[in-house]
Amino acid sequence: MAQLEGGLRPLSEGETQIDEAPLGSRGTLWSILEESFEGLYLRHSKRTLDEIETVRVARRSGAPVGLIMVKKLAPKVGYVYYVAVARSERGKGIAAMLLEDALEKFKSEGIDDVYASVEEDNVPSGRLFAAHGFSRTGMVEVAKRFGALHAVSMYRVMMVVPGEVLLHKSLP
Ligand SMILES: CC(C)(COP(=O)(O)OP(=O)(O)OC[C@H]1O[C@@H](n2cnc3c(N)ncnc32)[C@H](O)[C@@H]1OP(=O)(O)O)[C@@H](O)C(=O)NCCC(=O)NCCS
Repeated sequence: MAQLEGGLRPLSEGETQIDEAPLGSRGTLWSILEESFEGLYLRHSKRTLDEIETVRVARRSGAPVGLIMVKKLAPKVGYVYYVAVARSERGKGIAAMLLEDALEKFKSEGIDDVYASVEEDNVPSGRLFAAHGFSRTGMVEVAKRFGALHAVSMYRVMMVVPGEVLLHKSLP
């Protein structure tokens, strides 16, 4: 990974571990959400953290520094709900590591298509997903791919709200 602007040194894989946070043990992750989201997003991200099947956590010296929340929308379709990194740890490649870990996990589970929604004006998040091969899509393309009924039920779970764009990546 190249040196980031501003002289920040990217972490090496050896310094950061990624593991799963089981349900019931996720309270220590709230502070990352509180630093990352506000208002409706913060409330929804906390609720999702308490309910979602898979939360992967990046740790340095055992302390959580970032997280990603993912779930299956269908047997072969994955969704990235939230990715967030502690403010003091941003720009070091942690979100990239979390996303790569999530994509590998999806692939090992036989997932073919991964979706994510991001706020249109969220530059770091847009760059993160673009760098990992995600591109813009929409309801019409989802419906063409999975049929209108499936598309509607998937859209409900994805909860794409105005101001957000839906992104898609096919896994090889
Ligand atoms: C988005 C977020 C998760 C990125 O985390 P991060 O660990 O700092 O990201 P990384 O260091 O892995 O960098 C990922 C990409 O974003 C870019 N990036 C990171 N911070 C950036 C910034 N402030 N401005 C512009 N680009 C930035 C990096 O350059 C990299 O892109 P590249 O591969 O093209 O160089 C983090 O900023 C965050 O937690 N934001 C608040 C929560 C949020 O908006 N989540 C996303 C929507 S769910």
